[in-house]
Amino acid sequence: MNIKAVLVSLSLFVLSESVLSAEPNPSPVEERVQALLAQMTLEEKVGQMTQIDFSVVSVANGQDAENPVDQAKLDDAIFNHHVGSILNTPTTPNNRAQPIEKWRNITQSIRDTAARSRLKIPVIYGIDAIHGATYTQNSVLFPQAISMAATFNPELSFKEGEIVAREVKASGLDWNFSPVMDIGRQPLWPRLWETYGEDVHLAQILGGAFIQGHQGEDMAAADKAPTCLKHYVGYSYPLNGKDRTPAWIGERALREWFLPGFEAGVLAGAPSVMINSAEVDGIPGHANYHYLTEILRGELGFKGFTVSDWEDIIRLHTRDKLAASPREAVKMAVMAGVDMSMVPFNFSFYDLLLDLAKSGEVPLSRIDEAVARILRVKFQTGLFERTEPALPVAGYFATAEAVEVNRQAAREAIVLAKNDNRMLPLSKTASILVTGPTANLLSVMNGGWTITWQGASEELYPKQYPTLLQAIQRKTSGRVTFVGGQRFSDEINIEQAVNEARKHDVVVLALGEKPYTETEGNIDTLALDPVQLQLARAIFEIGKPVVLVTFGGRPRIITEIADKARAVVLGFLPGMEGGAALADILFGDVNPSGKLPISYPRAVNDITPYDHKPIEAYETNQYRPLYPFGHGLSYTRFETSGLSVKPAQIKAGDSVEVSVKVKNTGTRTGKETVLVYLNDIAASVSRPVKQLKAFEKVELQPGEQKTLHFTLTAQAMSFIGLNMRRVVEPGDFKVMVGDESVPFSVLPN
Ligand code: BGC
Repeated sequence: MNIKAVLVSLSLFVLSESVLSAEPNPSPVEERVQALLAQMTLEEKVGQMTQIDFSVVSVANGQDAENPVDQAKLDDAIFNHHVGSILNTPTTPNNRAQPIEKWRNITQSIRDTAARSRLKIPVIYGIDAIHGATYTQNSVLFPQAISMAATFNPELSFKEGEIVAREVKASGLDWNFSPVMDIGRQPLWPRLWETYGEDVHLAQILGGAFIQGHQGEDMAAADKAPTCLKHYVGYSYPLNGKDRTPAWIGERALREWFLPGFEAGVLAGAPSVMINSAEVDGIPGHANYHYLTEILRGELGFKGFTVSDWEDIIRLHTRDKLAASPREAVKMAVMAGVDMSMVPFNFSFYDLLLDLAKSGEVPLSRIDEAVARILRVKFQTGLFERTEPALPVAGYFATAEAVEVNRQAAREAIVLAKNDNRMLPLSKTASILVTGPTANLLSVMNGGWTITWQGASEELYPKQYPTLLQAIQRKTSGRVTFVGGQRFSDEINIEQAVNEARKHDVVVLALGEKPYTETEGNIDTLALDPVQLQLARAIFEIGKPVVLVTFGGRPRIITEIADKARAVVLGFLPGMEGGAALADILFGDVNPSGKLPISYPRAVNDITPYDHKPIEAYETNQYRPLYPFGHGLSYTRFETSGLSVKPAQIKAGDSVEVSVKVKNTGTRTGKETVLVYLNDIAASVSRPVKQLKAFEKVELQPGEQKTLHFTLTAQAMSFIGLNMRRVVEPGDFKVMVGDESVPFSVLPN
C-alpha cells in the first residue's frame, strides 16, 4: 500500500461498532493454528504464553562473547519450559547495543534450538526499537516520537516504519515493541517524548502511518515486522506526573482521548498490544477485564495478542496488593485478558499457570484462546518458514537512503519558536560562542532507548554524527568558541562563558535535559535546573544577542529565557541527525517547518492542552501557553484564505467538504502544515473549544498558492455522548483554519 492509500484508510475512521463484525475467515493460517493447537500439551501451551529476558539464556558475561547464548540454559527454556518469546539485549553486565553479527548469531541459536523442539514452534524475539533498532550498533536512529509528531509529516513516519522494520529484521529480530499510542497530555511524565504529543488525531495519523510502513500489506514479507501498541490504556496520564503511578480517567475521557490512538493502531493492523504498567481508576492495567477484554476485543475488534509489561503480573501481588499471592496474580491477569507474560527473569509464571490450569482454576479454553492468538501472529509473520535471518545486512541496514530519510525527518522535526527581527538565519561569518550543557552531546538529542535503556552512555555513541557544536563548527567560517558553562545541574565555568560571550557576535545557548526514560526520568517540577537559569541570566546581562536552543523530552520552563532570547529553537529529541539538522536551520540551509505537537507551558503548573474545555478559558482562566500547539515559524511567510465548508447543512452521519487556499507570501521556498480544527458549538457534553480533525503539509515556492481539500466525516463530528457511546448531535459546528472560521449545521434527522 502506498502512503496515499494509507492516509485515506486512516482518515476513514468509522465508528467503533463497524469494526466489530469482522470475524476471522477460516483461512490457511487459521487451519494451521487449530491443527497445531490440537497437538500441543498443556505444558507447551503455557510455555507459549511465557516471555523471558535474554539474560535467562545467556552466559554470565555475555557482553564479550561473540555469541552469548548459553546453550544448556536455552535448551532448558525451550525444551523444558517451551517459552514462546524472548526479549531484550544481553544484560550482563549492562544492557547495550550489540554488533549486528552478534545479534544474528544469537537469534540463529534460538531459531535452531526451537527447530529441534517437538513441534518446532518458533520463538518470537521482541525488542524496543522505538526510534530505530536501539540495541543494534550503528542502526539508523530517528527523531523520537514527539519529534516525529512535530514534523506533521505522515510520509516520513511511514518511511521511518519501513526502515526500522528492515533494520530489526536484518538484525535477526522479529517483533518491535513500538509505537507508543498513549496520548501525551501530562508533560511531567518522563515518557511524554515517547508519544506523538497531546492531540488524538495527530497521534492516530502518525502512529498509523508508522505501523503501515513497518508491517506493509503482508507481515510475512522479509523486510516487514509486527508492531506492538503501547501501553494500553491510560498509562500516559499519571495525576502526579511520575511514571507508573495512578491515573484517574473517567470513562468518557478515556474514550475521547486515550482509546482512539489504540483504535487507530488496531485498524492499521497492529497484531499485539502491551499493557499499561500502572493503574486507572484504581484498577491495575493487568487486572482490568473491562479494558483488556470487553473494550479492546469486544469494541475495538482487536484480534492479536496482549503482552504484559515488565514483571507486571507478579506486581499485582508484590506492588499493587490486589492479589494475595503470586499464584492469584497470575490467575487474575490471565483471566482479565493477558495472553503473554513478560515475566521476565524466571519461569514462575509458567509453573503457576500450569498449576492453575491443572486445577481448573484457569479454564483450558482461556489458555487455548491465548495460545491461538500468539500462534496466529507467528504464522502471519512467517516465523514458521524462517530458518535464518530474514534479510542480509548489506543493502538493508544503515543504508545511505535510510540515513537521508532520517536527516530529512530531523530537519522537519525542529521547531523555530521565536525569531525576532530575523535574528536567524545566522551569517556564516559571525563569531559565535556556543555554551550550555546540551551543546556538545549526542545523547541529549536522542533520549532514552538509544544504545542503552536510559540512552545516557555518551561514550558508546557513534562518533560520525556531529553534536550541535560540531555541526556549527563544520558549517561556518566564522570563529566558534565553546565553553560548557555547566553540566546539567552543576556549574563548571559560567564566568568564563560570560567573558567569552563579550568577545563574540552572538551566543548559542543550548539548554535542556539529559536523557532518561521510565521511573528514572521522574522529576518534581518542570522548572529548568536552577544552574541553567543562572548561566542564562549571566549571559543576558552583557546584552549580546542570544539564540536559545533546547533539547529534551519534556517542555521544561524557559519563559524568562525565551523572553530575552532573540531566537528560540526547540529541538526536543531529533535523533542522531539532530546536530546537523539544527545547524542547517541556524544557518538557513534548511527552512524550518516543524510545529509543536504539544502546548508549551508558560509556567510549571500551567498545564492546559489546546483542546481544552470552554471552562478552562473562562473568566480568569486562560489558555496562555508560552507557545501553543501547532506553533512553528518559517523563514518565509504563509497565509491561508478562502476557507469554504460545504454544504452548509447536513444530516447526522454525512460529511462536509472543506477547502482552503494556502500561499507562500515570503521570499523563500518553504513547507507549511495547514491545520483544520472543528468546534461543536453546543452539545449535551461540554466540548473542547477546538479539536484538530485534518492537516496537510505542503511545499510552496515564493508566491505559489495551492488549494487544499479535506473531508470531515461523521466520525470527526462525533463525541462520547451521555450514554458513553459515540454520537453526532444535531446543532451548529464551526470549522477553523488560521484566522478564518466557517459554520455549518447538522440537522435533526
Ligand atoms: C517498558 C516497555 C518496554 C518493556 C520491555 C518496560 O519497562 O515500560 O515500554 O517495552 O520494558 O523492554
